[in-house]
Amino acid sequence: MITVKQAQQRAVEVLLLSSDTAHMDVNILVGHCLQKSRTWLMTWPDAALTDDQVVELEGYVARRVKGEPIAYIVGEQEFWSLPLKVNRFTLIPRPETELLVELALEKIIKKNATILDLGTGSGAIPFALKSEHPDWQVTGLDFSQDALNVAKENADRLQLVVDFIQSDWFEKIPEQLFDLVISNPPYIDGTDKHLAEGDVRFEPDTALIADEQGYGDIRRISCEASRYLTDGGLLMFEHGFEQGAGVRRILKDSQFDEIETIKDLAGLDRVTIGRWRSAP
Ligand SMILES: C[S@@+](CC[C@H](N)C(=O)[O-])C[C@H]1O[C@@H](n2cnc3c(N)ncnc32)[C@H](O)[C@@H]1O
Repeated sequence: MITVKQAQQRAVEVLLLSSDTAHMDVNILVGHCLQKSRTWLMTWPDAALTDDQVVELEGYVARRVKGEPIAYIVGEQEFWSLPLKVNRFTLIPRPETELLVELALEKIIKKNATILDLGTGSGAIPFALKSEHPDWQVTGLDFSQDALNVAKENADRLQLVVDFIQSDWFEKIPEQLFDLVISNPPYIDGTDKHLAEGDVRFEPDTALIADEQGYGDIRRISCEASRYLTDGGLLMFEHGFEQGAGVRRILKDSQFDEIETIKDLAGLDRVTIGRWRSAP
C-alpha cells in the first residue's frame, strides 16, 4: 500500500531532476489522479492510493519527466478564472493573453458589440469576453478543426454561446462588420532558439510560428481587417515583446489610426491596437 504522502515524496524525487516546479507539479498530478483538491491532499496524507492510481500517477510523472506541459497531462488550463480543456491541438492559454481581454473590456463600451477572434485555439479569448459581456456577439475562428472541436467542447462545459468558424483568417467570414477584431496570432520566427525549450516543444508549430520573422500572419490580417471593421472599429494584436515597433509600422501601412502599443505587467511591449476610420 502507498499513501498520498509517500506517493508525493516518490514523485518529487523523480521530478526534481527534470522540473523546476517539482513540488507544484506533484500536487497537481496527484490531485488529478485522485480527483481531489490540494486541501484534501494536505488533510489526508495517510489516505491510500489504489493500484490503478499508482500506475496512473507513474504514467503522468514519466510524461512530465520528458518535459510535457502539466496542462496537456491533466488536459486543462485556467484562463480568466475559467477552466478550459486543452490538448496537443491547442495552444496552452498564457497569462499575458489576459491583457488582450482586459483591453477589449476597457475599450469596447458598446452594448451588443460584435467581436471576431482570429486564431481562437481553445476559445480562451471569446469565453473570457463572453463571461464578462453575455450581450456581446462573439465569433472565434481557427483553421484547425481539431482546435475548434476543443473550443466547442469548452463552450458546452462553460455554457457560453460563441460562434465558431473554420477559416484561413478571413477567407470564410461572411460579409459582416465587427466592432473589434482581436487576435493572438502565431508570431514567433521559425529560427527562434526558444522553440527548442520548455512547453512550446509540445505545442503545435502552426499556433506559434509565422513567416517574415514572425510578422507574416499579423501582416496578412492587417491588410484584410479593414473590410470587416465598423467605422471606428478596433484591430488588436498580441505580439512578441520585441515586435511593438514592427506591428505599429504594419498597422500604419494598412491605414489604421490611433495606433498604440501597451506594455504587459513585466513592462514589455505586448499588445498593439489600431482604429479603423472609413473614408468620409
Ligand atoms: C498563438 S495561438 C492562439 C490561440 C488562442 N487564441 C490563445 O490565445 O490561447 C494561434 C492560433 O492561430 C491559429 N492559426 C494559425 N494560422 C491560422 C490561419 N491561417 N487561419 C486561422 N487560424 C490560424 C492556430 O491554429 C492557433 O490556434
